[in-house]
Amino acid sequence: MTFHKSIGALACAALLVAFSASAQNKFPGEGGVNLDVPYVPTPQNVVNRMLEMAQASANDIHYDLGSGDGRIVVTAARDFKVKKGVGIEIDPVRIKEANANAKSAGVTDRVTFMQTDLFAFDFTEANVLTLYLLPDVNLKLRPTILDRMKPGTRVVSHAFTMGDWRPDNQDTVDGETLYFWVVPSKVGGNWEWKVGNDTYLANFTQMYQVVTGTVTGPSGQTMISNSVLRGENFRFDAQVTQGGAPVTMHFVGKVAGGQIGGAVDFGGKDMTRVTATKK
Ligand SMILES: C[S@@+](CC[C@H](N)C(=O)[O-])C[C@H]1O[C@@H](n2cnc3c(N)ncnc32)[C@H](O)[C@@H]1O
Repeated sequence: MTFHKSIGALACAALLVAFSASAQNKFPGEGGVNLDVPYVPTPQNVVNRMLEMAQASANDIHYDLGSGDGRIVVTAARDFKVKKGVGIEIDPVRIKEANANAKSAGVTDRVTFMQTDLFAFDFTEANVLTLYLLPDVNLKLRPTILDRMKPGTRVVSHAFTMGDWRPDNQDTVDGETLYFWVVPSKVGGNWEWKVGNDTYLANFTQMYQVVTGTVTGPSGQTMISNSVLRGENFRFDAQVTQGGAPVTMHFVGKVAGGQIGGAVDFGGKDMTRVTATKK
């Protein structure tokens, strides 16, 4: 299914106009239900790019919230081979279309469409989540995504952002902007690790995937720099002194609940395995 560029852009504009005209209101669905978001399908080339950005693959469980005629779920199963796909859709007319589309694509064994309200269904088993909703709906979903979904879950939203949670990546296809996030692990607070006999204490402040803070070691306290938190993967640098000479300590690790397992090196030397523990 190919949509002309201007049709895609118009559809997106129509969605925004509808939104601003009735911010608090529901929209009438075709199947006698009220919708939080009117039905506007994502053009197929945009669907493909969304799933490419998410790097959807055979290891993934994919959910599309407000799945319309099921095109994103069907494409993820047929072309990206996800092991399980679920579409959550409140309008029974769309569910009928989605089931027919899954049947013609030959993916009914891996794909399910649930006729229900997306706010009433637990979608947190997904590790790939796609959305073409509205800004206020994204914001309502944001706490569930950040606090209940597994770190490392990939989220792609067609056209709409997540407030002040800035995307890890974005792209534009035929005038439509796509936003990509990776659900970050929780690293805010105090951590401790040892390198030989030296104890290091860190205090991190986290705002989504942005982490700032200090490390205190034998040579005193310093701010961390170059920190990157992508899902469970966390790295940062800290300037320390060794034998009286300044050196950059690189910390690279994987967050698993209250521990960060990884390694530190000092200016690229003396690499040591460490486990930081949450205090
Ligand atoms: C903009 S369309 C996106 C359709 C599809 N995801 C796509 O990108 O082609 C939004 C969809 O969300 C559905 N929807 C609206 N409110 C919903 C709700 N509360 N629960 C589940 N689905 C809802 C609408 O019926 C519509 O099909």
